[in-house]
Amino acid sequence: MAPNAWNPDTYARFAGFRARPFWDLADGIDTSTTIRTIVDLGCGTGELTAELATRLSVDSALGIDSSSSMLERARDHADDRCSFATGDIATWASDEPVDLILANASLQWVPDHPTVLERWVGQLAAGGRLAVQVPANADHPSHTCSAAVAAREPFRSAMDGSPPPDPVADNVLTPEAYAELLHGLGLDDPLVRLVVYPQVMASSADVVEWTRGTSLTRFFAVLPESLHEPFVDAYRDELLATIGERGPYLYTFKRILMNASAC
Ligand SMILES: C[S@@+](CC[C@H](N)C(=O)[O-])C[C@H]1O[C@@H](n2cnc3c(N)ncnc32)[C@H](O)[C@@H]1O
Repeated sequence: MAPNAWNPDTYARFAGFRARPFWDLADGIDTSTTIRTIVDLGCGTGELTAELATRLSVDSALGIDSSSSMLERARDHADDRCSFATGDIATWASDEPVDLILANASLQWVPDHPTVLERWVGQLAAGGRLAVQVPANADHPSHTCSAAVAAREPFRSAMDGSPPPDPVADNVLTPEAYAELLHGLGLDDPLVRLVVYPQVMASSADVVEWTRGTSLTRFFAVLPESLHEPFVDAYRDELLATIGERGPYLYTFKRILMNASAC
């Protein structure tokens, strides 16, 4: 996707909902031996990278992201310990073995997880840890309704008849598949959890503001700007016709959390 389709302000609107799985993932990291180096792949606006670096008292933390707008915000959190750089998480490689590789809500944006995870595991130091979280909500109306709208005019033609691939539906594997994959890569005792996060929103219409900051960005990356708001309006109509217009609304959001250590 176009790297600058990410908008840090829109993304930050639901910071609390977004931070919770990050810290659940962090709480699953084995801290029985010292963690000196962290790489946060798809670090976004970087505040969670910096907080984790402080919490784990690491020597160095590096956040990698492909979006210049997200990185610009992340650089506010750079200091002697924490730095940020442009990179593609699908092809990223480290100069030095890393004690902890973490990727929160970013792996879903790249295809071929067996190959990417093998590459990441190959960058771990002996005893290093992998911590990865991906959304698994492709079956929720918040997701299926955007695909339905994208198949309609005028959006379909504006996208040359082929809407962008859906990263969650196309790329994310089952929890069991991730457990087998990590075990097959030689990681010790991988713990893979499917968690349903209860995101209580003031109204069902607020789901639109949530998806605007994440899954709709792939449509914004290919649609002309004049069609962004019409797309959001059509999506809102479709979504509210499906889930009803009411409040408060319990937006059940499934996520897969993986924690594993290299032997
Ligand atoms: C949903 S945000 C998550 C940000 C952060 N990890 C957090 O937990 O708040 C996904 C991030 O992944 C980044 N991203 C997506 N595809 C990427 C790629 N191929 N290489 C690097 N970063 C990527 C986006 O730019 C975005 O900042």
